[in-house]
Amino acid sequence: MPFPANFPVLESARVRLRPLNTGDAPDLLKVFGDPLAMRYWSRLPMEQVEEAVARIERVLRGFDSGDAISWAVAGREDDRLIGTLDLFRIELPHRRCECGYSLGTASWGQGLMSEILPLALDFAFGELGLHRVEADTDPRNAASVKLLERMGFQREGTLRQRWRVGTEVSDSAVFGLLAPDWHERRKQG
Ligand SMILES: CC(C)(COP(=O)(O)OP(=O)(O)OC[C@H]1O[C@@H](n2cnc3c(N)ncnc32)[C@H](O)[C@@H]1OP(=O)(O)O)[C@@H](O)C(=O)NCCC(=O)NCCS
Repeated sequence: MPFPANFPVLESARVRLRPLNTGDAPDLLKVFGDPLAMRYWSRLPMEQVEEAVARIERVLRGFDSGDAISWAVAGREDDRLIGTLDLFRIELPHRRCECGYSLGTASWGQGLMSEILPLALDFAFGELGLHRVEADTDPRNAASVKLLERMGFQREGTLRQRWRVGTEVSDSAVFGLLAPDWHERRKQG
């Protein structure tokens, strides 16, 4: 199936998933500049709004080149960015991609990512026709590991000492979800 020509806007009960724009940079900096939210991310927290602008420009280029779909998670009322949700390294010939997600700490623990990650997975396995979605998470990131397991991802292995962020070296727990397993889960509700 072809990569979408127009950016897919998706909605859940609480938030809207829309394209990022450079006007989101201050709100993106709030999330990506927070050491708590970035504790297990593959980069140090951002310090300057220019870094947020650069990330936004990069993800917009990613959509234009068919590599990624990066959603801003935005409040339905005020449209302000409170997080991000990405399908990236989309490889249509191999029918696979990776997924990533972040929320500002004020939105944690309310079941929000469990509400919206299924929208991205439905899109990946539906409209994009993918067969496999992967996630790479720090094994110590309990919320992320639980989220993936809740979605039916299987832990497939550990890549040791894979990331070097600041002075810290960390492992990757690699998770994978296959289309038939996702479709079966959705059928069962
Ligand atoms: C990972 C993240 C997106 C989860 O979002 P969330 O909306 O808070 O998650 P949910 O409320 O949907 O919870 C998902 C599961 O994790 C559990 N959980 C949430 N926070 C937790 C925590 N701090 N410790 C342990 N488990 C936690 C929930 O209980 C739930 O499990 P359950 O289904 O068994 O009840 C959020 O913590 C975050 O943005 N973290 C920072 C960015 C990040 O690390 N991203 C992942 C990079 S790979």
